[in-house]
Amino acid sequence: MNPSDLFDLKGKTAIVTGGANGIGLASSKMLAAFGANVVIADLKAEAAQQAAASIASAGGTARGLACNVTNDDELVNLVDKTVAEFGAIHILVNNVGGGGAGKESPEDITVEQFARVFQLNVFSMWRLCQLVAPHMEKAGYGSIINMSSMASINHSPAISAYASSKAAINHMTRNLAFDYGPTIRLNAIGPGAVRTDALATVLTPEIEKRMLAHTPLQRLGEPDDIAGAVLYFAAPVSAWVSGQVLFVNGGGEQTLD
Ligand SMILES: NC(=O)c1ccc[n+]([C@@H]2O[C@H](COP(=O)([O-])OP(=O)(O)OC[C@H]3O[C@@H](n4cnc5c(N)ncnc54)[C@H](O)[C@@H]3O)[C@@H](O)[C@H]2O)c1
Repeated sequence: MNPSDLFDLKGKTAIVTGGANGIGLASSKMLAAFGANVVIADLKAEAAQQAAASIASAGGTARGLACNVTNDDELVNLVDKTVAEFGAIHILVNNVGGGGAGKESPEDITVEQFARVFQLNVFSMWRLCQLVAPHMEKAGYGSIINMSSMASINHSPAISAYASSKAAINHMTRNLAFDYGPTIRLNAIGPGAVRTDALATVLTPEIEKRMLAHTPLQRLGEPDDIAGAVLYFAAPVSAWVSGQVLFVNGGGEQTLD
């Protein structure tokens, strides 16, 4: 392969869920900067449109679309609209995820809340893989990137729903890599603590100090740190990489306890 083609995404179409903010927004901008058409699917319609407009003003191609990833009709609509507009799907960044913000002790969390975390983090990802796969097969190129977390391998109090759902993403990714290969590659990224609105809800100066004490690179992550890994998995440079979980964490562990 020509070295200049390794990161070239021209002519490829990507869907990024939760692309209006944080890691998803940085990933959308990164993919667009390397030539991809990007569909930003987010619960917040206006923020999705604004994100698409900022990509367009930087010379990229993007569309914003309202989509709640826990609603099956909206996932089907997302895939249909993407194909109608761009003719194909090559890249999926399954980025949406969340949990109980460190308040998942068994005394506090109900079965329904636990199930909802799996609905948001695992079932929606699996379903979107199922929906995009035929289009990637047709296009002859597919890269699916599932957003996991360091929580998938760390052991901490009051985070059992989020942590176990992220562990499920790791193993789902490894297994689906067999189901959808050889045309489609599946990989996961496990971010450490990354400065986004989601992290801001739980970060205190004391927690940050403890996190940095366990972080060789001596800073928390920025959304672009994760977007770089998204680019690697999305692009032809990683053509022989599938079923992997890459932890992007400053070389260490940043836990909330
Ligand atoms: N920030 C971190 O420190 C960190 C660490 C590890 C893993 N992660 C993972 O990274 C991913 C992104 O996190 P972030 O920190 O960028 O979050 P964020 O809160 O900054 O952004 C999340 C985006 O997802 C959208 N969203 C939320 N629920 C949605 C739904 N049901 N359907 C569609 N869109 C929805 C929001 O509107 C928002 O635009 C998540 O999967 C998270 O678990 C983040």
